[in-house]
Amino acid sequence: MLLPPPNWLAQAPLEPLRLGWLADAGIEVAILRLDRIDPLISGNKWFKLVEHLKAAERAGAEGIISLGGAHSNHLHALAAAGKRLGFKTVGLLRGHPQDTPTVRDLQTFGMQLHWLGYAGYRARHEAGFWVPWQGQFPTLHAVPEGGGGLAGALGCAAIRQQAEEQLAKLGWNDFDAWWLACGTGTTLAGLALAEQGKRVVYGALAVPDDHGVAPNIESILAHATEPAADYQLIDASRGGFAKVDQALLTFIDQTEQTSGIPLEPLYTGKALLALKQHVESGEFAVGTRLVFAHTGGLQGRRGFAAM
Ligand SMILES: Cc1ncc(COP(=O)(O)O)c(C=O)c1O
Repeated sequence: MLLPPPNWLAQAPLEPLRLGWLADAGIEVAILRLDRIDPLISGNKWFKLVEHLKAAERAGAEGIISLGGAHSNHLHALAAAGKRLGFKTVGLLRGHPQDTPTVRDLQTFGMQLHWLGYAGYRARHEAGFWVPWQGQFPTLHAVPEGGGGLAGALGCAAIRQQAEEQLAKLGWNDFDAWWLACGTGTTLAGLALAEQGKRVVYGALAVPDDHGVAPNIESILAHATEPAADYQLIDASRGGFAKVDQALLTFIDQTEQTSGIPLEPLYTGKALLALKQHVESGEFAVGTRLVFAHTGGLQGRRGFAAM
């Protein structure tokens, strides 16, 4: 069995986000705490995994093989899910063996690791990449990097439902748009598909423009049979993926002190800072209501502190 019982993970709380710069601009933001669904299988990762697990189950697989870096939030959630639910996991890692807090957790959770080097990892999009791995692990189901693809996106429809179910407790009957961090764009595509154009989904790019996020989103949205999805990508990478500067770190620190919300510098911190810049440049009308999806990734803060 790869799938958990229904309602296995807690619901992500939807909480008001109270920050001076939002109040000053007359913008209301609620934060959907996907980081709180589980201590280990946290953030958007579970939602991106769930349809892949269903496909693996249908195929009669005994476990999952997937790929990522030495700080990968995706591999971390996958390995934790494998340990909790009792299925086998194999991780193909970028680069050469490294000892990071994430890698140590992967080993503790029982994931079998294979380091591909850098050139080996770059080959992951080539036709035939999976053939030798499928030969070596015939009972495992392959999941693309980051839990991406259409299956990854489809699982993210539940994120929309979780927010909608909790609007009343904020005294909201609706909201205008989503704001969230984008790495591959899979989560954004899933939300945009689920919204069917009803609300705009703003994606704050954690990676530079040339990382193929827009084509990835378009290839997922090409499967939509419903009205056009409405989304916008915002450059939030601050010079590159994992590039961190003092202004960002100060912002994360101040946000945590004022609101109690923990952020990390690669995705959620950059996404909220990009929202601040957007709000301060007057892009949203007074009275706009947004839901900011906290996509988790807090386990990665340990590796970052050690860098
Ligand atoms: C914490 C966090 N937030 C956001 C994302 C972006 O998700 P996506 O790849 O679906 O755009 C990721 C992973 O890539 C992540 O680890």
